Formats: sequence, structure tokens, C-alpha cells
Amino acid sequence: MTTANTESRYLCPYCSATWDTFDGLKTHALAEHANEPLPTPDGLVRLSVNGQAYEVMVEPEWTLYDLIHDKIGLTGTKMFCDRGACGSCTVIMDGRAILSCMTLAIECGGANIETIEEVARTNPALIEKYVEHHAMQCGYCTPGFVVTAASLLAGNPDPTTDEVAEALAGNLCRCGTYPQHPIAVVEAAKKSREER
Ligand code: FES
Ligand code: FES
Repeated sequence: MTTANTESRYLCPYCSATWDTFDGLKTHALAEHANEPLPTPDGLVRLSVNGQAYEVMVEPEWTLYDLIHDKIGLTGTKMFCDRGACGSCTVIMDGRAILSCMTLAIECGGANIETIEEVARTNPALIEKYVEHHAMQCGYCTPGFVVTAASLLAGNPDPTTDEVAEALAGNLCRCGTYPQHPIAVVEAAKKSREER
């Protein structure tokens, strides 16, 4: 379960420094980015990422991936295709697995986002079983698979291997680890049920 921290961090759109107050951000922007447009309260998008509230002046072309990976610095989410075809950039938005490369950050006002960093913290059985069953090789696609699996388990705590395979059908792996994912996810679900 995500622990909410509703005290906003104000994110500089130019260098990704964060500040406790909007005035702090403004002073910083004036001093360090005098040639850039000054952040204004009206242009700020407020959203929660892994329980931490952020307010950030989002550029129109930023994707949610740009925001969480490049600006906030949560680098666990991976970019493979940048066109909605591979699932490696999957995050959970308001309880639903979505592709962060295909979602504009500016549309995420008020959203609660969970990335692999939070999913790994709240789903230890999933991580344990992925490791135990070698459901990864190079590991680049793995965060996307794990986030999608966590989203499935949140709604279906006792899935069959076929249901897991279907849920993960949108995630691609160049290393060919496909057979191991349903095994790991079903085992993780079992372990989580036993621990409840
Ligand atoms: S990087 Fe987003 S779907 Fe491939
Ligand atoms: S483990 Fe290498 S791409 Fe999937």
C-alpha cells in the first residue's frame, strides 16, 4: 500500500531540482534559468507519484515517461519502443496499468501514479518469485512485466497461468523469457495469499 505524502515537491522543469515551496522554485528559476519562461502557479500540474505529491510546470510535449524518468528521476521504468508496442514503460495510473510513453504528462493532473519502484516495495513476493524462477535475462523489459503483473494481481489475486499470459500479452521481451512469467506470477500470488 502506498503511503501518501501530500506535501508537494515543486519540480523545476529545466533541471529537475525540487523545492518545498513554489517561491523556492521561482527564486531558483530566476537565478539559474533566467532565459527560460518563469514557472507560474497556473501552469502547474499536480500529481502523486509513489505517494509523493508533485507540482510541476509541464511542457506540452512531455510524456508521463519523460516526467517520471527524466524529470523526477525514477529510472526503473524503461523505454524500449516509444510507440506503445512493447509495454516496457508500463506504470499504474489510478489503479490501471498504462503505457507511460503514450500518455501526455499534461493529462495526468490529479492522477496517482505508481512506478516499478513502488510496485517492487509493495509486492515483495512478486520480486522474490521473479528472481527464483529466472523470469528475466537482461532485465530491461522486466519492470514493465512486473508492473503489469502487479496490476493483474490487484484485481485477481488467484489467476491461472493462462490468465497471467493473457494479461502480459502486451509486454514484449527480446530475450524470450515468456514461459517464466506466468510461473513466477502464479507462485507470487500463491505466496501472497498464504501470507495474508
Ligand atoms: S516504450 Fe512504451 S510501449 Fe514500448
Ligand atoms: S529480459 Fe531482456 S528484453 Fe526481456
